[in-house]
Formats: sequence, structure tokens, C-alpha cells
Amino acid sequence: MGKEKPATIAIDGPAASGKSTIGYLLAKRLGYLYFDTGAMYRALTWAALEQNLDTKDQEAMTELARSVEIEIRPGNAKDGRHYTVLLNGKDVTWAIRRPEVDGQVSVVSAHPGVRQIMSQRQREIGKRGRTVMVGRDIGTVVLPDADLKIYLDASPEVRARRRLMQIESRGEKADSQQILEEMRRRDRIDSQRQLAPLKPAEDAVIVDTDPLTLGQVMEKVIGLAEGWRGK
Ligand code: DC
Repeated sequence: MGKEKPATIAIDGPAASGKSTIGYLLAKRLGYLYFDTGAMYRALTWAALEQNLDTKDQEAMTELARSVEIEIRPGNAKDGRHYTVLLNGKDVTWAIRRPEVDGQVSVVSAHPGVRQIMSQRQREIGKRGRTVMVGRDIGTVVLPDADLKIYLDASPEVRARRRLMQIESRGEKADSQQILEEMRRRDRIDSQRQLAPLKPAEDAVIVDTDPLTLGQVMEKVIGLAEGWRGK
């Protein structure tokens, strides 16, 4: 009999904690679906900006969430993407990484009506199993019964440094102080919102990634998945 693996793995953590890279690599290693829920909130934010809607308007944002079609598919282009995001059929994979989206996505994702719709869609995908789902509230709200829950943590300073390196590796420029401030602002909104604030689930394994390299975090996470002994 083969060793049992956790069918659903939830990875949560703050911005730039490494959860997207780790989630992607772990899913690849296990042959699972990688699902980055942040991309859904980003695609919705992009839709709002395109239509010049007020992102603070909960009713408008909820209506938009209900009516847009957001699809996340395995990557189909050789440009470094881990997946392709389609918004009403249009490829917005890179557009949703723009600073305008960074600046508004926390506001959009704080609306309870928006969260309800997004969480429901995410849950349906997670229910199919063999999925690594990455976000802020996967272990607490979206998949509270996930087999394995991992919370990747890191200090704002380390995360700002990582984000800066990521931006520079794309050949773009950015101001490190500004990134750190933006990181703190987003942390504040994400962890203080009333519904589904960013926090580890009670049964999550918390990994402090500050002193670890990407390879070391990966080793730890693979160890957790492979050492899993059932619930
Ligand atoms: O992981 P990210 O930076 O792409 O996420 C974008 C935003 O979406 C972030 O500000 C918080 C929000 N988000 C959320 O509220 N719940 C999730 N499950 C995933 C992301």
C-alpha cells in the first residue's frame, strides 16, 4: 500500500512570505493542482479599475464579483508565469501584478460580500482534492478541514527585501522604503479586517521563514507533506 498524502494542503501567510513560490513548487512535486487565491482578488480588482468603479463601494464590488468570470488555468506561456488568469476570457496574468492593483486589492478583498463569493468558488475547487491552495484564510475559512495547514511567516523587513529582489529581477526599479511601507499598510488592512483576517489556523504548522533560504523552506514543507500521518 502506498503511503497516504494529504489531499488538500492550505498555505497561508502575509504578502511576500514566499507562499506562492513554495505552493507552486510543492504542488509540482506532488503532482497536485496549484491554486493561488490571491489571483482571484487581484483579477476582481483589475476589473473594477478597468471599469472605473469605486473599490470602496461594497455593493458595486459584490455585484462585480458575482458577474465576472475569473478562471485560473495551468500556465500556458513561457514567460515565467505559474498559471494563467483569465478575466471574462481575457488574459490578465501580468496586469493583475501592477502597482495600481497592489494599491487597491486589500480594499476590494475586505468587503464581506466579495469574500463570500470568492470563498465559495475556492472551496468548490479545493473539494476536488489533490490541491495546494494558497492565500490568507484558506486554513481558517475556505478549507477549515484541509488535511495539512501551513502558515508561512516572515518579518516585514525580510519580506520587503524579497519583494524588491523580485521586482529588480524583472528589470524594474523600486524604492525599498516605499515597498516596506506598502507592505505594512497591506498587513494592517489584511489582519485587521473583520471578516477572515490574516491569522494562522489553530491547527496550522507555523514556519518562520526569516532565517531560512527558499530551499530550506521547501525542505521543511516537503517534510511536512511526506511525514503526514493522517488526521
Ligand atoms: O497573495 P496576494 O498578494 O496576491 O493577495 C492579494 C490580496 O488579496 C491581499 O491583499 C489579500 C487578499 N487575499 C485575501 O484576502 N484572501 C486570500 N485568500 C488571498 C488573498
